[in-house]
Amino acid sequence: KQAQELAKETVKDAKNMAFAFDIDGVLVHGDRLIPEAKQALDILNGDNELGIKIPYIFLTNGSGKLEPARCKQLSEILGSPVDPKQFIQSHTPMSALAEYYNTVLVVGGEGFMCRDIAEAYGFKDVIVPNDIVAWNEAIAPYRIMGPWERYSARPRDFTKVNIEAILVFSDSRDYGTDYQIMMDLLRSKNGRMGTIAEDPVSERIPVYFSQGDLLCPTEFPYGPRMSQGTFRLGFEAMYKAITGVELERTIYGKPERATYTYADEVLSNWMEEIHAENVLPENVYMVGDNPQSDICGGNMYGWNTCLVKTGVHRGDENDKENPASMGVFENVLEAVRFCIKREL
Ligand code: G3P
Ligand code: MG
Repeated sequence: KQAQELAKETVKDAKNMAFAFDIDGVLVHGDRLIPEAKQALDILNGDNELGIKIPYIFLTNGSGKLEPARCKQLSEILGSPVDPKQFIQSHTPMSALAEYYNTVLVVGGEGFMCRDIAEAYGFKDVIVPNDIVAWNEAIAPYRIMGPWERYSARPRDFTKVNIEAILVFSDSRDYGTDYQIMMDLLRSKNGRMGTIAEDPVSERIPVYFSQGDLLCPTEFPYGPRMSQGTFRLGFEAMYKAITGVELERTIYGKPERATYTYADEVLSNWMEEIHAENVLPENVYMVGDNPQSDICGGNMYGWNTCLVKTGVHRGDENDKENPASMGVFENVLEAVRFCIKREL
């Protein structure tokens, strides 16, 4: 009887813990699997002594693909199913903005993919920089449009359109053109091309960035690459130099709090899905490779944090500014094993 009671308790503990996984640098490098990730997920999927599923979600600053498409791609790389219901990428919570803005400029990403994402989120009138270049190519003097871009663009007279907000969804593929168009719009009267605001602040349209990471680990072996955060820093400096005022902006993604409150919602819904209980596990473990985003955000939100050495962070030492509360681990499998042992 005592053994039965003990087993019951352990099952309860297993349901009271959960993992939030960063993706790039923890589970994959670009399209390449980090080998230990598969076993870590298998353990959580029930390949453990209790045969119980331990809940987990994915919390990534990645972007640029619709959630179902990204989950399908990830499932294939990881060899483990990834459900959109357990998946949050940087721009996922930005779908809520569709309630407030009708006509938006969406910046970043491959080709016209971010237009599709914004439309799927419910934005009614989505403009991308290519539409504006196709309207008047002289806006970006060094830009050369390819034939397929000209074909897919939706030009119109942008001096007759009020763009209500700028949403940077993903990494810019052409800093020069995107900076120019964003600058023109942020200096304009309420987002109308061809105008200049009399007051740079009160007539300025809002700008949102989907995440703030400075660096991102990729397949490039000699160090992480610059990310959306550096794109933003460059823009802020130029904006200040040209207008004399600071740019006000909103940033989503890790380590911003809004992303974690959104994650809580996703996690309790996911509990419902796998354990038919809509409760929020008390002990959440964030496993990340970037102290400035994953670990910083997790610590501030009261989660336990594990820093792995397979991505941005290298070396055995914990980060000085944003130390992971559980310490530094070789890889995600070591982190998962440690945390499970701690709880059960
Ligand atoms: O910084 C860009 C992004 O690819 C990082 O993704 O999964 O490490 O949050 P992740
Ligand atoms: Mg990462």
